[in-house]
Amino acid sequence: MAKGTGEGIGRRTDRDLKVRVKTAKGRKVGSTLWLQRQLNDPYVAKARAEGYRSRAAYKILELDERYKLFKRGQHIVDLGAAPGGWSQVAAARIGSTDENPLIVGIDYLEMDHIPGVILLQKDFNDEDAPAALVAAMGGHKADLVLSDMAAPTTGHRATDHIRIIQLVELAADFAIRVLNPGGTFVAKVFQGGTEHELLGMLKQHFNTTLHAKPKASRADSAETYLLARGFKGNGPE
Ligand SMILES: C[S@@+](CC[C@H](N)C(=O)[O-])C[C@H]1O[C@@H](n2cnc3c(N)ncnc32)[C@H](O)[C@@H]1O
Repeated sequence: MAKGTGEGIGRRTDRDLKVRVKTAKGRKVGSTLWLQRQLNDPYVAKARAEGYRSRAAYKILELDERYKLFKRGQHIVDLGAAPGGWSQVAAARIGSTDENPLIVGIDYLEMDHIPGVILLQKDFNDEDAPAALVAAMGGHKADLVLSDMAAPTTGHRATDHIRIIQLVELAADFAIRVLNPGGTFVAKVFQGGTEHELLGMLKQHFNTTLHAKPKASRADSAETYLLARGFKGNGPE
């Protein structure tokens, strides 16, 4: 997974002491700091020990503990699924199996198979991505749409800002199209006034909306999670 997302589990030596990384020739200071943070992150170590593909697994576990997201037999869509921590947690919680897969995940990165999860390697921005997801859902609507997607940053603030908003709006539009009445939408958003319009739109379609920042989400990161619960439905089909 891309280094900048900070979620993948990198290789680390098994040491309890704080690991310091020397700036190697050719490695930028930012990369060295990222590597050092990764090596010293307790969630990275925990994920490795407990068999999760990403430290992000602990964010959804925490959100589930607080807001009871998962129920057995639900149908779920996981947007931006790689490397797979959220899908792993979801599959275990709802009892999804390869014989009866209840989860469809999408990412433009290649992923190893996760039992109980149908994975599409595709850019969610592609025009045909929603249709591909709907087809993979095999005629079922979703009870829960998760999005941990983050648009890759370009370094150009205004461009990054627009791309972040567009992606989460696209995810929200998709959720509104595919959710069952009563369903839930969870999406990563970034603090800083990015989602006023989005929030207004979600309030029209869901009974409750709230923001939550799990402990596993780094305090120095602007990311937070938006939960919209109690989808009101799309009226008669
Ligand atoms: C923070 S990671 C997700 C971690 C995941 N929840 C887990 O537990 O392993 C964000 C993912 O979103 C994906 N992503 C970002 N933009 C995307 C897009 N337009 N289409 C598909 N995937 C996208 C990235 O490739 C990345 O793998």
